[in-house]
Amino acid sequence: MSTPMSERLVLRDVSVRYGDVVAVDGASAAAVPGQVTAVTGHSGAGKTSLLWAIGGLLDDGQSSGSITLGDKAIGDERSSREAGAVLIPQGSALAEVLTARDNITVPLVAAGMRGAEATALADRTLAAVGLDEHGGHLAEELSGGQRQRVAVARGLALSSLRLETGSLVLLADEPTSELDHDTRERVVALLQDVARRGGSVLLATHDPEVADVAAARWHLDDGRLDPALP
Ligand SMILES: Nc1ncnc2c1ncn2[C@@H]1O[C@H](COP(=O)(O)OP(=O)(O)OP(=O)(O)O)[C@@H](O)[C@H]1O
Ligand SMILES: [Mg+2]
Repeated sequence: MSTPMSERLVLRDVSVRYGDVVAVDGASAAAVPGQVTAVTGHSGAGKTSLLWAIGGLLDDGQSSGSITLGDKAIGDERSSREAGAVLIPQGSALAEVLTARDNITVPLVAAGMRGAEATALADRTLAAVGLDEHGGHLAEELSGGQRQRVAVARGLALSSLRLETGSLVLLADEPTSELDHDTRERVVALLQDVARRGGSVLLATHDPEVADVAAARWHLDDGRLDPALP
């Protein structure tokens, strides 16, 4: 049995550099499993860079410092994937010529789920974000907000799969930026539910109302994370 609730995510002196640009500058912080932590800061402050460092998604040499989940060092592609890092990317990143449903089933099957189960889980998560009628639509036929909800549903489905077998760090990068008020509340509630089920959820957002529902906050200012802020 895994014990995801006991896995603390700890960052020590994490920096991200793109050539001469210092996007994250010596960030140290901890996230408690079972909680949503809002990652806030102005555009360009380093939110995406920090999430990508945790997800092990940056190129070699772009990040430095130490990131641990429980007693495991993470922060490269393999270790972060094995530790259960799941990204809901800023801008959705859907495969245009696949249906909404297949944008979810393909990564689930790649992660080891059987086809019929993956389809059922995809349909459940699409329904959870209010897209039960849209599973068969091509991604390129969807509106911006609908595409964002498919990306959220994909992240939720992969999170469910992970929570069955081990720890989860859900990296949600501005997942509500294109949503109306009610849909935004619905998505935030779904992310809180993932946290309640034992995941660590990092939620990058510009939206103060969304940040306010999080139990904790990491605030970035020009790449510097101020741990003194709530
Ligand atoms: N691939 C890259 N190459 C060079 N610089 C980059 C790259 N990606 C990001 N940056 C720079 O790093 C800094 C932080 O960018 P990042 O995307 O992490 O910010 P952000 O807080 O997510 O912003 P936003 O709210 O606009 O999404 C910015 O100055 C940006 O220009
Ligand atoms: Mg960003």
